[in-house]
Amino acid sequence: MKKLTAQGMRDMFLGFFKEKDHAIIASGSVIPENDPTVLFTTAGMHPLVPYLMGQPHPAGKRLANVQKSIRTGDIDSVGNESHLTFFEMLGNWSLGDYFKKEMIPWSWEFLTSDKYLGIPVDRLAVSVFEGDENAPRDDESADIWACCGMPRERIFFLGKEENWWGPAGLTGPCGPDTEMFYITDKEPCSNTCSPACSCGRYLEIWNDVFMQYNKTAEGNYETMAHKNVDTGMGLERVLCVMNGVKSVYETELFVPIIQKIEELSGADYAIASETDRRAIRIIADHMRTATFILGDDMGVSPSNVDQGYVLRRLIRRAVRFGMQLGMEEGFTKELAQVVIEEYSGAYPELTRNSAFVLEQLILEEERFQRTLRQGTRMFERALSKLPEDAKTIPGEDAFRLYDTYGFPIEMTVEMANENGLDVDIADFEHRFKEHQQKSQQGAQQRFKGGLADNSEQTTKLHTATHLLQAALRKVLGDEVAQKGSNITAERLRFDFSFGRKVTKEELAEVERLVNEAIQANAPVTSEEMTLDEAREKGAIGLFEDRYGEKVKVYTIEGFSVEVCGGPHVENTGEIGSFKIKKEESSSAGVRRIRAVIGE
Ligand code: ALA
Repeated sequence: MKKLTAQGMRDMFLGFFKEKDHAIIASGSVIPENDPTVLFTTAGMHPLVPYLMGQPHPAGKRLANVQKSIRTGDIDSVGNESHLTFFEMLGNWSLGDYFKKEMIPWSWEFLTSDKYLGIPVDRLAVSVFEGDENAPRDDESADIWACCGMPRERIFFLGKEENWWGPAGLTGPCGPDTEMFYITDKEPCSNTCSPACSCGRYLEIWNDVFMQYNKTAEGNYETMAHKNVDTGMGLERVLCVMNGVKSVYETELFVPIIQKIEELSGADYAIASETDRRAIRIIADHMRTATFILGDDMGVSPSNVDQGYVLRRLIRRAVRFGMQLGMEEGFTKELAQVVIEEYSGAYPELTRNSAFVLEQLILEEERFQRTLRQGTRMFERALSKLPEDAKTIPGEDAFRLYDTYGFPIEMTVEMANENGLDVDIADFEHRFKEHQQKSQQGAQQRFKGGLADNSEQTTKLHTATHLLQAALRKVLGDEVAQKGSNITAERLRFDFSFGRKVTKEELAEVERLVNEAIQANAPVTSEEMTLDEAREKGAIGLFEDRYGEKVKVYTIEGFSVEVCGGPHVENTGEIGSFKIKKEESSSAGVRRIRAVIGE
């Protein structure tokens, strides 16, 4: 098959859809904006939820991009050949424009035409929705596939588990999808082997979602007038298939990272034991993801909550496995440097934020080393509390060492053995599984409210956030730039760059300015324009890395001009009043304000 580079693949995908009149839009941040319900952007459709729900997109009805995506629900199972916590998703969207009869033939063309991927038809299979009490069997998609040339015996009808994309919240657009699979050399595992089984014969490479229903609050599925298409293709997976390598870790995207790990540890990936190879993969995956989280313009630093907690786990897990391979302290920043270098062409924000990335990694490694020392003391205390004749360290202690101090179980077992003891592994595993289930439930919760929430209250808070940023810049200066925004129905939370604590007097002045703008009953208007025009107008917001795309600019006459997708109130008076509840440090050089309205 055609050998492709990562950049070649990105360009080919975007070029294909550009030819089909799509606007190419920039990747959204990996940290979702204004969305309290998910920690990371998990798919290309996520930043587009308001547009999928009917709000017009300034770039038009046909969009495509490459989206930085993070899925950490099963962080503990990373280490096999295909699991990744970060991936790039190639995607295209129809916002109420084309539908199945255009999309499926395009997918077919892209997959099979020699001009594009040129995958032999006998290596491809697809699945479509088999139907249930809510929505009929998707014969329409199956017939279009057959018309394209897909043999009927490789069109599999599967259930909701496999072929349905749920609404963004509890209600909203949803629908059947059709997934495309590459058939590997693995023999069928049984007579009923299908893309639904996990034996590895069928490798999913692309998913076309047809959002044709609206799930109502009563649980009914109504046919929507505004039908969308949402597709997603994993870049790493497809590179793996095209270049005939066995694992995503053998693709060009990972080779330089793994070479650096080899250099720093003396290990050899090709001939390493399965344990060491797994360690290398975990380090490579986690350091790549950590670099993208830190290197995002909305980048966060390690902490004990939210994204910062996931980031902390990724870095510490990489360090632990690095120690297992005998790597010396300080290796995480060396690996991050490789990631930054390799990805800076496609993601210039990594270069822009590289000083922050490296500094945070050094700090976190130091903190972890301290924690490990404290953990060792805790271990010794636990040991001294055991009765004289004890032979086993309870699972509870082992789990606390793991959970609080980041001690791998292997390390606890080793230390126990040195003291002539065993560890109650069964009890540890039980606690570990329970914990894993809980964190998976947390990580997989999907957009309840969030971007799909256009309620009156969140809309008001959204406008109040613009006023807050404008007021902060007036009082504290232009150094203030948005580093994150998170809105729930109850409050807004705004992170911004600023080097010191904001004084009481300054906060009072900010609050006064915002209330003044509210009392002025100022109209809020929006216009679509190019980025250059927005810049000329003096708008603030994220400007970088957008491919000359059209954007929406919201103006609050006399107070604020900002690039933003909306929605906003029509008049600032609707907000009622504004009150700052708290100002605190969020991370180095970043402050956080929580505020409420209408009290
Ligand atoms: N949103 C769809 C997915 O992530 C395309 O698979």
